[in-house]
Amino acid sequence: MKPQRGNNRAFGLLAAAAMAALMTGCGNTVYPMDTLSPKSNLANEVTWLFKEVTILDSIVLLIVIAALLGAIFFFSTRPGDSQAPSSKHADLYLEVGWTLIPALILLAITVPTVRTIIRTQPYSWSPNTLRIKVIAHQWWWEFRYPTLGVITADELHIPAGRQIHFELLSADVIHSFFMPALGGKRDVVPGQDNELTLIANTPGYYYGQCAEFCGTSHANMRFRVIVDTPSDFEAWVAHQNSPPVKPTEGAAAAGAKIFADAPCAICHTLRGVSGFSKQYTYGFRGPDLTHFASRTTLAGSILDNTPQNVALWISDPDAVKPGAKMPDLGLHGKDLSDLVAYLESLK
Ligand code: CUA
Repeated sequence: MKPQRGNNRAFGLLAAAAMAALMTGCGNTVYPMDTLSPKSNLANEVTWLFKEVTILDSIVLLIVIAALLGAIFFFSTRPGDSQAPSSKHADLYLEVGWTLIPALILLAITVPTVRTIIRTQPYSWSPNTLRIKVIAHQWWWEFRYPTLGVITADELHIPAGRQIHFELLSADVIHSFFMPALGGKRDVVPGQDNELTLIANTPGYYYGQCAEFCGTSHANMRFRVIVDTPSDFEAWVAHQNSPPVKPTEGAAAAGAKIFADAPCAICHTLRGVSGFSKQYTYGFRGPDLTHFASRTTLAGSILDNTPQNVALWISDPDAVKPGAKMPDLGLHGKDLSDLVAYLESLK
């Protein structure tokens, strides 16, 4: 028996150490998917709600444990007891008590929850609110700014301190829009336009991830949120609205010709050069590449945007993102490096 008790103790210690490690992990910005370092009004409110409900639940748990221990120690039969335990059935006060108390607990959770929704998710928006359409695709994110004429992918830029109203649309299956530091998660459902409103408060570089299983590469459907200062955001918008680079010589110019000749332009838009610009519907198309090189990541934000990674992605998309709809174009050697040079020139 002894070794087993030793094992149990070792397991207990390990579990305690793991819990301690987890607890210290929470709230630490080293972890990009941390939900306890709120950086928006919505995330702040949700974090407060989480703490309120956790404290309330802990009090309920302590009361239940105390009642259970009381029942065990004061009401169990002991050796020598001659009387059988009471087998009384219907006690009016008990029945009313354990119906009423859970109802009150539910009410105590409902009130702050509804309050949080009303505070953060308005029915109408001021003219200053920035509208962004988020379109989920298997397996990448498209971001459209209808009032600014900007379309981008994988990386969402928003200004700090300004209300953002997201319209969440799906091009195919159910996804979920999740930015741990900023708020969410909210399902993105075909045929059902969901919404999310928030005000980011701290400029920075944040991680996002699809949080609803949506097929083979669900885990590879990530994105980044760059919260800019208002002036940085204006500069970004101005740059996104500028026409793409048109190289006239060298590898990039050769790459531009390959881009036009290969099937790239069927799916990818280069505004003013190729593609369907803002007109196409939400069906299957690849990301807008007009300012591809201004992004820090590619392929659903699973790769850093480096020439090596762009070449890796083009030469074998399925190896990088299993199930990807981007076909293998069979490009290699100089053709591949020219195309990469062109894409990386699209600042
Ligand atoms: Cu999209 Cu999971």
